[in-house]
Amino acid sequence: MGLGEHLFGHRHTAHGEQPDATHGHAGHGHGQAGHGGGHGNADPGGGHGRGVMTGAGRYDRMTRLLLAGRRDRVYAALATAAGARPGDSVLDIGCGTGAFTTALAAQVGATGRVLGIDPSPEMVAFATERAPAHVRYAVAPAESLPVADGSVDLVASALVVHHIAPDARVVALAEIVRVLRPGGRLLLADFQAPRGPVARRIVAALTGPEMAGNDPIPELLALCTGAGLTVEDQGRQAPFFAWVRARAN
Ligand SMILES: C[S@@+](CC[C@H](N)C(=O)[O-])C[C@H]1O[C@@H](n2cnc3c(N)ncnc32)[C@H](O)[C@@H]1O
Repeated sequence: MGLGEHLFGHRHTAHGEQPDATHGHAGHGHGQAGHGGGHGNADPGGGHGRGVMTGAGRYDRMTRLLLAGRRDRVYAALATAAGARPGDSVLDIGCGTGAFTTALAAQVGATGRVLGIDPSPEMVAFATERAPAHVRYAVAPAESLPVADGSVDLVASALVVHHIAPDARVVALAEIVRVLRPGGRLLLADFQAPRGPVARRIVAALTGPEMAGNDPIPELLALCTGAGLTVEDQGRQAPFFAWVRARAN
């Protein structure tokens, strides 16, 4: 696609010029603490607007445990749902330890480029240590993306919307629209509470009671349509994801 240089270029937003945070240096850049400050819980769900995470190693181990040996397969399925294609320039928002970023990178191949961003320097450091050659990471929040206008084929994000403060979510969506090229795609995946009562009790114990009944689809649809994107599809990915895919006009 030849868009990697744009994807990894400077950003231009209403928030003003920022230093180039796309060289993937862990802890480099403008790592705003986001909303709610850091917290060390390792759950993939959590409450609403939970903010920036710490505890990268613990989070990584917890997601492997909760996905019971299927983590790579689950994220690969989400990358497929996103429509990641060879050669694409991809932005993974709220990359955490890089599990989804890595799955996206496998699907775009060596001719593609993937940038994972997260406001947590600790998460970015963890992911950077394990990054494939065509993947970079940078410290940045969804509300201020270090990426040039109209330069991205696919924006993807998993388990992140509920970490962003409710009033900042529309700001994040406006940023996503800014960086997507015309016809570019967005996949937003978030935590879908399991249906069974036992599983719900486990979720409540691990992540807090508010996540035990969580259905993210209505809000994901509203965010996409509110930002002027055209919703193309939606679905669920076991064991606890629901997603919406939309297209920039
Ligand atoms: C539950 S983790 C998900 C990580 C990864 N996407 C995954 O699926 O494993 C949520 C991540 O969102 C990040 N986050 C919090 N606030 C954010 C914001 N305003 N913008 C982008 N990411 C944010 C956290 O630091 C954390 O790494």
